[in-house]
Amino acid sequence: MNSLLSVCDVENDIENIINLAGDFKNGKIKEKPLRNKTLAMIFEKSSTRTRVSFEVGMYELGGTALFLSTNDLQIGRGEPIKDTAKVLSRYVDGIMIRAKKHSDVVELAKQSDIPVINGLTDLEHPCQAFADMLTIKEYKNNFNGKLTFVGDGNNVSNSLLLICAYLGMDFTIACPKGYEINEDIYKKGKEIGSKTGSEIIVTDDLGLALKDADIVYTDVWVSMGDEKESKKRHADFKPYQVNTESMKLAKEDAIFMHCLPAIRGEEVTSDVIDGKQSVIYDQAENRLHAQKAILYHYLKE
Ligand code: CP
Ligand code: NVA
Repeated sequence: MNSLLSVCDVENDIENIINLAGDFKNGKIKEKPLRNKTLAMIFEKSSTRTRVSFEVGMYELGGTALFLSTNDLQIGRGEPIKDTAKVLSRYVDGIMIRAKKHSDVVELAKQSDIPVINGLTDLEHPCQAFADMLTIKEYKNNFNGKLTFVGDGNNVSNSLLLICAYLGMDFTIACPKGYEINEDIYKKGKEIGSKTGSEIIVTDDLGLALKDADIVYTDVWVSMGDEKESKKRHADFKPYQVNTESMKLAKEDAIFMHCLPAIRGEEVTSDVIDGKQSVIYDQAENRLHAQKAILYHYLKE
């Protein structure tokens, strides 16, 4: 069964999905293509944007979404992933899941007879990456520029690296030593980039990373699940805050992006995230349009 666990799972359809998201946003698709379809949404972690955009997205496409917290599901009491997958496959048409362990989502997809969509794991956040690329297309018209991610080599930056590589866009991450991108994802990105012309750079040099950047992107220093390392992370990431000074190192017309939620005063200062270069609310809105495109791609018959 076709599932979206990683950006790589949809490599040949990336541009189609981004274009489709734009069509949904611009009202070009009026019909309700997912009438009578149902989506189970399993959450093992908190969410605002992912939950609401998937639920509203399903509604707007004519279908229904069910919010299922693992605090209430039997899976939270130890029911095997296999049984959950097999049973849900008899009730609904697709599963969206936000989980702590990527390997659990891989297992869920393996056991399901319906598509499984990754709504964030410790490894990737592909749905975010699609919304981000729609936003970049709107502001920059193409994917010819350079995206610089400042901060943690985490789920968000992993998926961004991959989608940039597929689209031929340059991707640089500036991170402290020890917080680099997942090794396999880096290798995969380099391999794809060698074919598409995307330059992938991992560095601890903030100045080098921000030079000529068209997009400056950051995310929290302490992701969900990393709370135990909070003190060390705050110390390690402090030099990597995005502020007025660091924004000056990027191109003058660079945009600032953040997947949200953000912590003002930590990874980004208020003057940047609330300033004129910031596109965060358009970016968040685009989660809805991107989710609709992904749902259409996976659930439409
Ligand atoms: N960006 C994002 O996934 O936000 P939520 O955690 O609120 O879903
Ligand atoms: N990296 C963050 C993203 C939240 C949308 C986290 O995993 O908590």
